[in-house]
This record gives sequence, C-alpha cells and structure tokens, in this order.
Amino acid sequence: MRFTVAIDGPAAAGKGTISKAVAAYFDLGHLDTGLLYRAVGRKVLDAGMDPVQAAKTLMAEDLNAEGLRTAAVAQAASKVAVIADVRAALVDFQRAFATRSGGAVLDGRDIGTVICPRAEAKLYVTARAEVRAHRRWLELSEKDPSLTLEQVLADVEARDARDRDRIEAPLVAADDALVIDTSDLAISEAVAKAVAHVQSCKEFI
Ligand code: DC
Repeated sequence: MRFTVAIDGPAAAGKGTISKAVAAYFDLGHLDTGLLYRAVGRKVLDAGMDPVQAAKTLMAEDLNAEGLRTAAVAQAASKVAVIADVRAALVDFQRAFATRSGGAVLDGRDIGTVICPRAEAKLYVTARAEVRAHRRWLELSEKDPSLTLEQVLADVEARDARDRDRIEAPLVAADDALVIDTSDLAISEAVAKAVAHVQSCKEFI
C-alpha cells in the first residue's frame, strides 16, 4: 500500500528525530531530503563544482559521505537550494522514494507542499529560533568546542530567512499539515503527537 508521510520545518526543530521515530514505529522507509542538498553543497565547497551539475550527477552513495552535518555544509546546502534547476534535478529521486512500496517518511522543507502534495499524512515541526539554536549548538560544539551559541543562532536565522524567503519551494507549512511546536515538549511528547497524527491519517485511508 502507498503511504507517504511528509515532515517539514526549519533547521533543528526536531524533524530528524521525529521522522526516524515515525518511520520505525510504522515500519516505513525514511529519507532525510536535507542530505541531498547538503551533498550538493559539499561538492560545490570541496570541488568547486557547478551546483546544477552536482545535483544532476548526485549518486545515492553521496548521501553517506562524511562531513555532511557541519555548519559550513548546512549553509552551502541552503544556498544551492534556492536554485530552481538544482531543486528540479532532485525531484524524481524524492518522488520515487516517496512512492516505494511499503511506504515512506520524507523530511525536508517542501515535502508536503511541492514534492508530495498528496501525502497521506503531513506534519510541520517547528520551535523558537533560540531553542533550535541551543539544540544545534549542543550537537555541533561536541566536535567544535570553539563554536559559540551566538554563532549558531546567527547561522540558524540566516538559513531560516533564506529557506523561507526564496521564490522556489519556500519553507512554509502545508495547509493540511498538523503543526507541532517542540519548543516546550520533551522528545517523547513530540514523537507521541506525531505518531498519533499519522495513526489517525492511516485509519482514514
Ligand atoms: O534539513 P537540513 O538542515 O539538513 O537542510 C539543509 C538545507 O537544505 C536547508 O537549509 C535548505 C535545504 N533543503 C531544502 O531546500 N529542501 C528540502 N526539502 C530539504 C533541505
């Protein structure tokens, strides 16, 4: 049976954790679509490749490359993501994953609005920028202790603005998405809300 769960939202809102938990709970495949843009951004940073060319020649194994989770690659990803031809080159891969048998969870910025507008279940996961920056800082400062919370907040806000204000597939909640604000929720509470919503959508079809 086809069953697609679309999970969108800004950086470090808890999409990744919720997506993995929902995929495990319902036994669905999971695609973190941010990795596609990060892999393209990485090729541009490392090899000076043309972003559209990098997107067109992207291979599944590029998504497992080391170093895709750094702040520099995140910014590069958000910059290549404004280019319409980059986004277009990544559509087929995402839609093929979304319609795989057994069902799938995709998380990103435009899954419920552009990639899978007819997804059976949609969530928009968000949190206050300060809360998101603090979470991301805890994660990143393990590897880079010199990183300050202010730097991470500035990075998160710059990325939010670029992702929200772009013309092509901007970050916005789909009209039919359930919005979960994780600012004041424990991970288990946020996951429980997400699972309950997906369960209700499943019963509906
Ligand atoms: O989810 P993430 O932080 O790994 O995403 C990195 C960047 O990639 C994000 O700032 C914008 C871009 N992106 C996008 O434009 N569309 C998606 N579906 C996923 C990510």
